[in-house]
Amino acid sequence: MKRFFLSLVMAVAAVTLYAAEIPVPKIQCGPWVVGVSETEMTVMWITTERSMGWVELAPDDGTSFYAEERPRYYEDYLGRHTVTKLHKVRIKGLQAGTTYRYRIYQQGIDDSGHNPVSGQITASNVYSQKPYAIRTMNQSAKECRFTMVNDIHGRDSMLIALTKSVKKDKPDFVVFNGDMVDFMGSQKDIEDKFLHRASELFATDFPLVYVRGNHETRGPGFSEYLNLFPTDTGTACFAFRQGPVAVIVLDSGEDKPDSDLEYGGTAAYDAYREQLAQWLKQTIQREDIKSAPVKIALLHVPFEKGKGWYGSNELKRLFVPLLNEAGVDLMLSGHTHNYGIREKGTCDGNQFPILVNDNNSRMDVVANDKEIQVKVIDALGKELRNLTFKVE
Ligand SMILES: [Fe+2]
Repeated sequence: MKRFFLSLVMAVAAVTLYAAEIPVPKIQCGPWVVGVSETEMTVMWITTERSMGWVELAPDDGTSFYAEERPRYYEDYLGRHTVTKLHKVRIKGLQAGTTYRYRIYQQGIDDSGHNPVSGQITASNVYSQKPYAIRTMNQSAKECRFTMVNDIHGRDSMLIALTKSVKKDKPDFVVFNGDMVDFMGSQKDIEDKFLHRASELFATDFPLVYVRGNHETRGPGFSEYLNLFPTDTGTACFAFRQGPVAVIVLDSGEDKPDSDLEYGGTAAYDAYREQLAQWLKQTIQREDIKSAPVKIALLHVPFEKGKGWYGSNELKRLFVPLLNEAGVDLMLSGHTHNYGIREKGTCDGNQFPILVNDNNSRMDVVANDKEIQVKVIDALGKELRNLTFKVE
């Protein structure tokens, strides 16, 4: 008995010593929140070490986060909580139009042997800082309000200038309409070029809606896109509803034929565009999308007037008839770095205007079931334009 007790003490001491050697994970980047619907959301963050991550949720009821034990949500894979640096926790069963406070946790795990050993736990601060909070979408809301920036191309000062007021303005979500970077070098590049800043300025507390631009198709880091900004479709296209508005997020892919020497034989956009068109055909029949009084499409590369580059011609051929059938009221784009409007019928039969934002302004959009108001605001916060589109 004495010998057994001694071995037990030695075993516990060994595990304790071992656990103490497990690197302590810290938050490296994030969180940011994507895929927010009425009932679900995905909380994303990156840690300095491989770790087991989880999210705790609390209602926005004025109580301390410490008032009681809060429910935990993990990312599970084949029956186990994942141990990773890139954390992606999908939370389901939420209530529409409801604000949830949340806290993220990470625990060091040594899973190199048969029996995983747990290390230290760290978490986001809910003691001296307000907990993060996200509001879910709500079909019954009277309005839909969002802010859009695009073509930032890694310019930190421009991202700050255009989005520093998000926490004060409190939109329903923030849109990145493509080309947030020049080149998808690596995950670290993406963190440094805009993710750190977005998280610091707003993405912890406001849903991020990312529209892929042509520059997000380039570089070895392009394959990180859906890992960092997951969708429920497995492509960069998705759709959701906020108030009277159905938001249809489209992917423009690349602009030249797949065989172009610039792609080195790696391009397969013809097949991808066909896949997206099939998705769009089904999505515009979805009840929540079809029944929306207002429909706004987001596409980084605007349709061109007349015969343009190959990619744009193909997008027009595949998307325009479907967007017309859906009754889209307005498309918002970027890419050209210049403000512009392409009226109805000017791009091979588009029955909706296409508004193009420049690379140094944001668009603040407010839509109800009668009209869509778009304000163009420059980097100094000056209102450059105020446009109203009647909903037909
Ligand atoms: Fe672009």
